[in-house]
Amino acid sequence: MKIAISSDHGGNNLRKEIIALLEELGISYEDFGPKTSDSVDYPDYALPVANGVASGQFDRGILICGTGIGMSITANKVKGVRCALVHDVFSAKATRCHNDSNVLAMGERVIGPGLAREIVQTWLSTDFEGGRHERRINKISEIEAQEQ
Ligand code: RB5
Repeated sequence: MKIAISSDHGGNNLRKEIIALLEELGISYEDFGPKTSDSVDYPDYALPVANGVASGQFDRGILICGTGIGMSITANKVKGVRCALVHDVFSAKATRCHNDSNVLAMGERVIGPGLAREIVQTWLSTDFEGGRHERRINKISEIEAQEQ
C-alpha cells in the first residue's frame, strides 16, 4: 500500500506524527508537504493528494488541516475520491466497511495524536464490505459521471 499525505499549516504537527506512525508500520508514503510552517491555503495541498489517489498512483490519501473540513471538502471535488472526515475510531472503521473511503481527513485542532494514530491504524487495516455498499458507491460514481 502506498499513501499520499499532506496538510496545511494547521495540520503540520499531526502530519509529522502520522508520518512517524507510517514509518513505524513500514508503510510506504509520499509527503506532499508543506515544507515550512508558513500559512498556506489548504486546497493547494489537498489537490495533489486527491489527484494522486484518483489517478491510482497512490492507494490511499491522508489529509490534515486545523479541522479537517477544508481538506475534505476540497478532496471530495475530485472524481473518484471518497474522502471521510473522521475523529473517532468507530467512524474510521465504518467508513472503510461502508463507504470504501480512499482518503482520510482529520483536524489537528480537534483530536490529539494518540487518537489520530488509532484512527489511521484502524482506517488502513479495515476492508470494504462490498455487497449492498458496493451498489451505493456505484450510485456516487453515477452522480460523478453526470457532472460536466
Ligand atoms: C487554517 O486556519 C484553517 O482554516 C484550516 O486549517 C482548516 O481548518 C480549514 O478547514
